[in-house]
Amino acid sequence: RMADLVMIRTYEQTKIERFAEYSRVPVINGLTNEFHPCQILADIFTFIEHRGPIQGKTVAWVGDGNNMANTWLQAAELLDFKVNVSTPSGYEVDEKIASITGKISPRHFQTYRNPMDACRGADLVTTDVWTSMGYEAENEVRKQAFAAWRVSAAMMAVAQPNALFMHCLPAHRGEEVDADVIDGAQSVVWDEAENRMHVQKALMEFLLLGRLS
Ligand code: NVA
Repeated sequence: RMADLVMIRTYEQTKIERFAEYSRVPVINGLTNEFHPCQILADIFTFIEHRGPIQGKTVAWVGDGNNMANTWLQAAELLDFKVNVSTPSGYEVDEKIASITGKISPRHFQTYRNPMDACRGADLVTTDVWTSMGYEAENEVRKQAFAAWRVSAAMMAVAQPNALFMHCLPAHRGEEVDADVIDGAQSVVWDEAENRMHVQKALMEFLLLGRLS
């Protein structure tokens, strides 16, 4: 009764949707097993700050077909850019969950077995932890399965020469990304982390005041 907004970080997406159905105030998804929209808003804002419009650009997603990957694909459909996805087998993106329209067009989504191929020509290379929150019991199995899905300097070298690297943090150097990439010149992870705050403030302004700028 006393809140103007509610932000929920939880597990199943159904939980937050059920809450929102009965809420009289806006409900922000602070992360679920399926989606992470606040992070993707910050990531896209960071891309735009550094490189301009994301429309028509290519994002390489290397690693788990998780909440971040799903939300990148939603954004690709909405904003008309492309996501090249490479995951180990068994960890693919579930298109039924990820797609807003039900079927993501090849203009917005392409899968690759080899992560190097996903990175080729990309404007942004991005990844995430191998084990997301709530999946900790799978940690050891995932370490084996994901060993070849570590973003390396060789992957960055086949991307565009001015490609950016992003990670939603916290990162594990030597697992999903090599230290020379996340700490290298193409990495914008600290701008990305700071932008979480600015974009969430803009989201609150939009939800409370209906203002876009
Ligand atoms: N995929 C990660 C994102 C953390 C910000 C998780 O859900 O744990």
